[in-house]
Amino acid sequence: STIDLIGAPIEIGTSEPGAVMGPAALRTAGLVRVLQDLGFTVTDRGDLAPDGAQGERDLPAIRAWMTGIARAVETALDCGSLPLVAGGDHSLSLGSIDGVLRHCGRTGQPLFVLWLDAHADFNTLETSPSGNVHGMPLAALCGEPGFDGLFDGGERPLLDPRRVHLFGLRSIDAGERAIVTQRQVNIVDMRTIDEFGVVAPLRRILDRVAAEKGHLHASFDVDFLDPTIAPGVGTTVPGGATFREAHLIMEMLCDSGLVGSLDVVELNPFLDERGRSARVLVELVASLFGRRILDRPTELPPLE
Ligand code: ARG
Ligand code: MN
Ligand code: MN
Ligand code: MN
Repeated sequence: STIDLIGAPIEIGTSEPGAVMGPAALRTAGLVRVLQDLGFTVTDRGDLAPDGAQGERDLPAIRAWMTGIARAVETALDCGSLPLVAGGDHSLSLGSIDGVLRHCGRTGQPLFVLWLDAHADFNTLETSPSGNVHGMPLAALCGEPGFDGLFDGGERPLLDPRRVHLFGLRSIDAGERAIVTQRQVNIVDMRTIDEFGVVAPLRRILDRVAAEKGHLHASFDVDFLDPTIAPGVGTTVPGGATFREAHLIMEMLCDSGLVGSLDVVELNPFLDERGRSARVLVELVASLFGRRILDRPTELPPLE
């Protein structure tokens, strides 16, 4: 099977510069080689660029990236390839998920989104305390008001908030808390993970997607991870997923066979420590695409 690697070095969705270097750092850490070693044919589509004006941190400048990202993702899916979008800040998911929605609109598959993130990214222009668009993509994709300037005119498919699963949440603003509650977004926050671990909650999500024969889009924000293992991100929040939890999640996603598209976002190599975070991300992607310790699951040792 084949993977399209799509670089999206956007950083105007955040106030912390450095995410522009994310795709280069992921390549430097061996992303392509790791996937090839797992048996995939990887087409590196290179880095996309904004179409026209750029530089400002406003909606028209963000919008200039989106058509290209959406088109690259949609084309990959239409060709039977799996798009892996390497960021870049989380505003790129406006484009990637728009592309997946368009593809799914033709196949009739319901789209589910697994949002692995410390944050909800459900702010609107009104509720955002920072004005940073990387904190808003889910609100825009789900059709909250105020984002018309972000998308091409005409019909656009909307994401169903009840098919969004936030996973790892531990930082949410007051305004977005109200929105996610009202829109019935599914949330596995860190409190739930502390109490039940990652396996039981993730199993339920995967069972749901499988039951509805859905397309699962995974959007992986580096700040989902604990900052001690992944310091290379502008919005660290203490108390994130451990190395072991994160690999287990990736292995379960792999076993499910449900993931049809992936974002890896918010890597900020300028804030990283000697490439540590980039390396961890490449290892996690490897687990998601089938790297395993043995070629079979091991079992509990028998009791004597
Ligand atoms: N909730 C905060 C804001 O809207 C932080 C968002 C962080 N988002 C991210 N993709 N890292 O400004
Ligand atoms: Mn498809
Ligand atoms: Mn985040
Ligand atoms: Mn995010």
